[in-house]
Amino acid sequence: MWKCPPLRRAAGQDPRGKGQFMKAVLIPGDGIGREIAESVKAVSQALDTGIEWQEYAAGAEYAAEHGELLQPGVLDAIEQCGWALKGPTATPIGKGFRSINVQLRQRFNTYANLRPVRTLPGVAARFENVDLVIVRENTEDLYKGIEYMLTDDIANGVKLITRDASLRICRFAFDYARRHGRRKVTAVHKANIMKLTDGLFLNCFRQVAADYPEIEADDVIIDALCMKLVQKPEQFDVMVAPNLYGDIISDLCAGLVGGLGFAPSANIGDKVRIYEAVHGSAPDIAGKNLANPSAILMAFAMMLKDLGQAGAADRLNSAIQAQVAEGKVVTADIGGTAATTEFTQAVIARL
Ligand code: NAI
Repeated sequence: MWKCPPLRRAAGQDPRGKGQFMKAVLIPGDGIGREIAESVKAVSQALDTGIEWQEYAAGAEYAAEHGELLQPGVLDAIEQCGWALKGPTATPIGKGFRSINVQLRQRFNTYANLRPVRTLPGVAARFENVDLVIVRENTEDLYKGIEYMLTDDIANGVKLITRDASLRICRFAFDYARRHGRRKVTAVHKANIMKLTDGLFLNCFRQVAADYPEIEADDVIIDALCMKLVQKPEQFDVMVAPNLYGDIISDLCAGLVGGLGFAPSANIGDKVRIYEAVHGSAPDIAGKNLANPSAILMAFAMMLKDLGQAGAADRLNSAIQAQVAEGKVVTADIGGTAATTEFTQAVIARL
């Protein structure tokens, strides 16, 4: 069963005499990243988490100035700390460099992308009581980036699915379900058409499911799933999917609960885990103190829980929920007028 890695080299004795402290990497990223990273630092301090942030730049803005995407030292720091919280980084469409997210996931083999999706009181949404978890395979499928031009007019991309990665992600999903008292795991696929690649994924799912008799297991074709999700999302619980389908249904599910402003995620490997908001760098509102920091704060809460600070994580989630439910000091994306900094201070006041 998957377990949090111990606090390795990055941990030490807290100079304040309160026990252990630990180092974690913070990558603000592009656009609104800097603003929401400031919220994280303020909340971390208010919660007295003992986390010492190692801050590194990465992304398109850093590249424009320095000619490279990642500040030197960031990869070593992530390797050493094992824990990182990352802001959004911009990726050019159809040309240019490969996504930093994809590079980090492949470099550190953070094979599981965990995305819980829940309705929050106070956030206008199409449904009430949505409570889903998406487990997305993070390292292969079409995102492996194996693309080439066969001729000037024919582009080819390789959909790579392996038995090892499929067994690993399915086992992760069932372990998660067991640990969190979830009733069902659904495999997402298109094995009726992609009989070898998605067929292999589905066979691995069925093999793993046999080891978890107490958890219901079923499977659904990706297009049918999209329709069922927008009609009756409560029929699903934990969903496990290859990379591309997982990416798409994550945003679809975020839309079910009121958008990307409240969608956190974790990229989990055996040695490294990187937490982030699902949303992007929001260039239209960057630098204006308008961003909603909730998603990255909720990703930070996921990190705190995995670090063994469940109490602090619960306090943070409750404070965000109460602040949003009250609806007075909230950001523009959910109908308010508050600045990022005002919302952050209001959440801190509730901690
Ligand atoms: P986006 O998520 O940045 O923005 C979509 C819309 O949602 C915009 O109107 C934006 O203002 C709003 N929005 C997003 N986050 C918000 C927040 N926290 N508070 C308030 N409003 C928010 O998606 P878009 O425009 O497609 O992508 C912009 C850039 O971000 C692209 O370069 C893309 O590659 C990158 N991106 C990075 C991700 C990551 O690093 N994890 C994930 C998704 C996109």
